[in-house]
Amino acid sequence: MSSSHPSPSSHPSPASGVPAPPPTTEPPPSVVARLRAAGCVFAEDEAALLAAAARTPDALAAMVERRAAGHPLEHVLGWAEFGGLRIAVDPGVFVPRRRTEYLLGRAVALGRRAAERTGRRTVAVDLCCGSGAVGTALATALDGVELHACDIEPAAVRCARRNVAAVGGQVHEGDLFAALPVHLRGRIDVLTANVPYVPTEEVGLLPPEAREFEPLVALDGGTDGLDVLRRVTAAAPRWLAPGGHLLFETGERQADRAVEAVRRSGLLAEVATSDERYATVVIGTLPAGADGADGR
Ligand SMILES: C[S@@+](CC[C@H](N)C(=O)[O-])C[C@H]1O[C@@H](n2cnc3c(N)ncnc32)[C@H](O)[C@@H]1O
Repeated sequence: MSSSHPSPSSHPSPASGVPAPPPTTEPPPSVVARLRAAGCVFAEDEAALLAAAARTPDALAAMVERRAAGHPLEHVLGWAEFGGLRIAVDPGVFVPRRRTEYLLGRAVALGRRAAERTGRRTVAVDLCCGSGAVGTALATALDGVELHACDIEPAAVRCARRNVAAVGGQVHEGDLFAALPVHLRGRIDVLTANVPYVPTEEVGLLPPEAREFEPLVALDGGTDGLDVLRRVTAAAPRWLAPGGHLLFETGERQADRAVEAVRRSGLLAEVATSDERYATVVIGTLPAGADGADGR
């Protein structure tokens, strides 16, 4: 059972921006004992969150049994904390990782700089959006952004619509850039793409919470984990505005090959790492003088 869990002490707000009330319900000791027996490392914290979310004792019992059976806590609760927000996460949808808040922070900084540079509303796209956590948190942090998100998985698209609509964005369904409206070509200032990047052979080594409850299409990045990413880097220059940025997460061991793919597409590459978050983010930038729209 995973040791990652929403922090009950930080009282995240819902995506709509309304502060969420702190959980006040004292969990019954039997719930803590059941979760502990099932292997939950943070049994007390999880019990408090489940008790606060359940409307009736029967509902609480059902939630506890799902959690004890190994379902991710976020799927049982129906939300995950991300970027200070409470993001809706449905069963079968990738659970946003706290590690990805590092990518979010970099995207927010670049989005702010883009608005200063261009003097207009930042255009942001969250490709492979899953629940839409990254795009929703980005739009919340950047006041006044044109936000589009897309995913290939219908369950993710349905879930993302709930989160992204709350910040005035749109979610499209389909394969990478093919899902996006063509009017975005050459206009994207910040393109976040937390694509699947686990090498196929390593998917079986993931914790059961990921392997059994998140879709393979959200995890499996092909033989070396970079198949989806290479498609993104190849097409990104045609969609970025001059000076626009592509940001994606990668494994430490994949970073060199990911940078190579970025450079091959004509973007300038930078690697940013966070020891605190165990995160590696690659940033590709279309040179300001370049026009990636040429020849499309
Ligand atoms: C690692 S998850 C990341 C989700 C979200 N960005 C996050 O950070 O929480 C990758 C997502 O990419 C989506 N995906 C995989 N292949 C795709 C494709 N070809 N086109 C669009 N989305 C894709 C999956 O459905 C999944 O939701």
